[in-house]
Amino acid sequence: MPVNDRRPNHAPREAARVALPTPAGEFVARAFELGDGAVYVALVRGEIGDGRGVLARIHSECLTGDALGSLRCDCGPQLRASLRSIAAEGRGVLVYATDHEGRGIGLLEKLRAYVLQDGGGADTVDANERLGLPADGRDYGGAAAVLRAVGVRSVRLMTNNPLKVDGMREHGIDVEEVVPVQTAAHARNLRYLRTKRDRLGHAPPSGPELNGAVGPVVDVASLLGEPGERAGRPYVVVKLAQTLDGRIATAAGDSKWISGEEERRVSHALRAACDAVLVGVQTVLADDPMLTVRMVEGPSPIRVVLDSTLRIPDDAKVLEDDAQTIVVTTDRAPAARRLELRGRGVGVLVVPSGPGGVDATEALRALRHAGVRTLLVEGGAGVVTSMLGAGLADRLVVGLSPTLIGTGLGSVGELGVLRVRDGLRLHDSEVHLAGEDVLIAGDLAYAQAKAATASS
Ligand SMILES: NC(=O)c1ccc[n+]([C@@H]2O[C@H](COP(=O)([O-])OP(=O)(O)OC[C@H]3O[C@@H](n4cnc5c(N)ncnc54)[C@H](OP(=O)(O)O)[C@@H]3O)[C@@H](O)[C@H]2O)c1
Repeated sequence: MPVNDRRPNHAPREAARVALPTPAGEFVARAFELGDGAVYVALVRGEIGDGRGVLARIHSECLTGDALGSLRCDCGPQLRASLRSIAAEGRGVLVYATDHEGRGIGLLEKLRAYVLQDGGGADTVDANERLGLPADGRDYGGAAAVLRAVGVRSVRLMTNNPLKVDGMREHGIDVEEVVPVQTAAHARNLRYLRTKRDRLGHAPPSGPELNGAVGPVVDVASLLGEPGERAGRPYVVVKLAQTLDGRIATAAGDSKWISGEEERRVSHALRAACDAVLVGVQTVLADDPMLTVRMVEGPSPIRVVLDSTLRIPDDAKVLEDDAQTIVVTTDRAPAARRLELRGRGVGVLVVPSGPGGVDATEALRALRHAGVRTLLVEGGAGVVTSMLGAGLADRLVVGLSPTLIGTGLGSVGELGVLRVRDGLRLHDSEVHLAGEDVLIAGDLAYAQAKAATASS
């Protein structure tokens, strides 16, 4: 080979083969060293047989997303969704490419590019270019060689990236079908996903283009509005599921389920898009919700419970370790109980008391201080009323179910509104259908309500 020929050497040498049990089931991990020193791990499931039509993913290493759960990208959910799909099919291969970190620029340069994105407003493509690096420097010859080494000839490729499809074909692997990887967008990676769609031609991982059995039926990014910085608190979205007569539970306290499956899937996608989801302790006592993301592929938010005296039961599902939990309380809660919860890995924030329990403004300030930038308030009526009444909500999303249940728990309590024209109004609102439910979302116009009152 000429000295200046810098093409990577893809000849794979198998270094180890071992069973790898994962939460998605057991795979055979086959580690390969390529001629240029790169290490690839093929996670193989089932019999590859004639090697045709194999469900496959080429997964580019992302330490921050895959291992640390960073929300700046969608790598972690894509990795886990792909492993689950392969396990469900019973036959397939995921090739984990360790030299693809940061679209091929490496971990340190990726983190430097993050600094430029945070400080200078550069998007993921511009940031790489400002560092003198390619927007995408990955080569797919190694992955194709590893696929061949495990007996794969043609694939149904799980990807949203057209360059991966071209890369496979260029290196002799027939792509029979492209299978999009549907994951829920997060407020933290929305801009990154839009850049990948607009500048790198990637298929959007969620949204109207991919309405289907798995993804949400509505573009959740649009329901979320424009999450931005708020002084001393997170961006707050209040989400309600109510009947046509404005109830969120029957008189007997039953609320499962007011809305249909599609509407609930949208709710899970909204959870997956936010840093945290918040309820009052009465909802925990009445419904014992998990507050995790289960109906779409995405990360579970931090679960927050407002509970001024720590009445939360020890066996509440929200205290189980499926996701992080923070309880916001007051110094009226016994110190021993606070210690006990912290010992279980539950965050306990102590704020002053206020109307309704904990002081809502102080609770939000404490959450923002803990790094929460987007907060979904899911209820119940007490907490929703506190947030709306104190002018602490930026956006309202209401799922209206075509049902009447008569007397029951109203979705919102006393707001001190005496005249209809002084009511809280949504502006720039949008309406969607989710199955049989209607979704209404809009920004809350506190300023307009106050101005109307002042000028009357
Ligand atoms: N359909 C839906 O979308 C939906 C969603 C959620 C819940 N629900 C239903 O709503 C019902 C529960 O609602 P809820 O109104 O009774 O209770 P809630 O809002 O879930 O919880 C209220 C409790 O939270 C604590 N809290 C602490 N700080 C607060 C503050 N600043 N403002 C308000 N509350 C604060 C208080 O208890 P302490 O004084 O002990 O701190 C208060 O009693 C259940 O029946 C549930 O099924 C429906």
